[in-house]
Amino acid sequence: MITNTKMISFQDHSGKLGHLVAIEGNRDVPFEIKRVYYITGVPEHVTRGFHSHRKLEQVLLCLNGEVKIRVKTPREEETVVLNDPSKGLFIGHMVWREMFDFTPSTVLMVLASEYYTKYDYIRDYGQYSAEANNFFKE
Ligand code: TYD
Repeated sequence: MITNTKMISFQDHSGKLGHLVAIEGNRDVPFEIKRVYYITGVPEHVTRGFHSHRKLEQVLLCLNGEVKIRVKTPREEETVVLNDPSKGLFIGHMVWREMFDFTPSTVLMVLASEYYTKYDYIRDYGQYSAEANNFFKE
């Protein structure tokens, strides 16, 4: 996995009754969960994201369907396929993300470490490169 990303496996309490996955802040994810949001109904061929965050950390879970997440730092890039509701993609500070190839039934849920603020976003790739080169330099 690229820097500042990792997959997290959550315990799946599954059986004849179906599946149940519980996620506790500061225990199953490495931050206190301050915000939850979800993305549904994304048309085919739409790519979302195209930004990074300075302070925000997130865990992305695909509760239904499938979606691909492209994560990038200035020197690394990887595409992660999410299609298992018991596995989350942790995205830490200063990682660029793009979400694409949503299926019609995809439900993408995001657990976030901070309340929403537009000031934490870096949406310009040139600005991102400049800040991230500085952030990731040894
Ligand atoms: P954005 O983060 O740009 O979505 P994506 O990266 O998936 O394309 O958010 C889309 C819009 O929703 C934008 O106008 C900001 C708003 N928004 C909130 O108001 N609160 C939130 O918690 C989030 C994530 C977005």
